[in-house]
Amino acid sequence: MIQDNKSLYTIKTSNYNIKLINSEETHAVRLPILRAGQPIKSCIFEGDNLETTVHLGIYIHDEIIGVCSFFKNNNKNILIANQYQLRGMAILKNFQGKGVGSKMLNYGEKLLKSKQTEIIWCNARESALGFYKQLGYNIIGEPFDIASIGIHYIMFKNL
Ligand SMILES: CC(C)(COP(=O)(O)OP(=O)(O)OC[C@H]1O[C@@H](n2cnc3c(N)ncnc32)[C@H](O)[C@@H]1OP(=O)(O)O)[C@@H](O)C(=O)NCCC(=O)NCCS
Repeated sequence: MIQDNKSLYTIKTSNYNIKLINSEETHAVRLPILRAGQPIKSCIFEGDNLETTVHLGIYIHDEIIGVCSFFKNNNKNILIANQYQLRGMAILKNFQGKGVGSKMLNYGEKLLKSKQTEIIWCNARESALGFYKQLGYNIIGEPFDIASIGIHYIMFKNL
């Protein structure tokens, strides 16, 4: 277990690693961060087990601290053929704001670019807009509400 010890939360390039994981491994982070208080089945996303879906986990001391997933899904407002949708982007609370999310997303962007993906887009929570903007994502269209989660914006990035 990761102890409640601040020094362990210091992320150095040498002590984290990012790897491909399966959909069930995402639940350890999806549940507390994105579906708090909801049943585990709320962590299952449509398309999670498709061959084209990519799940990433970021680990420190062999414990998963963040996840994100990429689904081969085109947004009709974006007229470019090769798109992936980012979903389930989440970092455990004690590790947020330390550069972990941006490291993992950068890794995913490079991986998808190497597979000819041109655009990554996502439905971004209003509270995460700053994070995506920092990483070069732009808003397209008007904000919309997702029941029980709140206001979202479509954001996209050209790879
Ligand atoms: C949003 C989230 C994934 C970002 O990951 P993170 O590891 O905390 O972000 P990082 O530390 O890599 O931040 C990268 C940059 O974005 C900024 N940033 C991060 N979260 C931000 C936020 N919520 N609002 C504004 N800016 C933010 C950071 O300040 C940092 O900028 P800097 O390089 O100038 O310091 C993470 O905080 C999280 O899991 N939040 C809760 C779940 C969530 O909202 N997920 C997104 C669903 S769409």
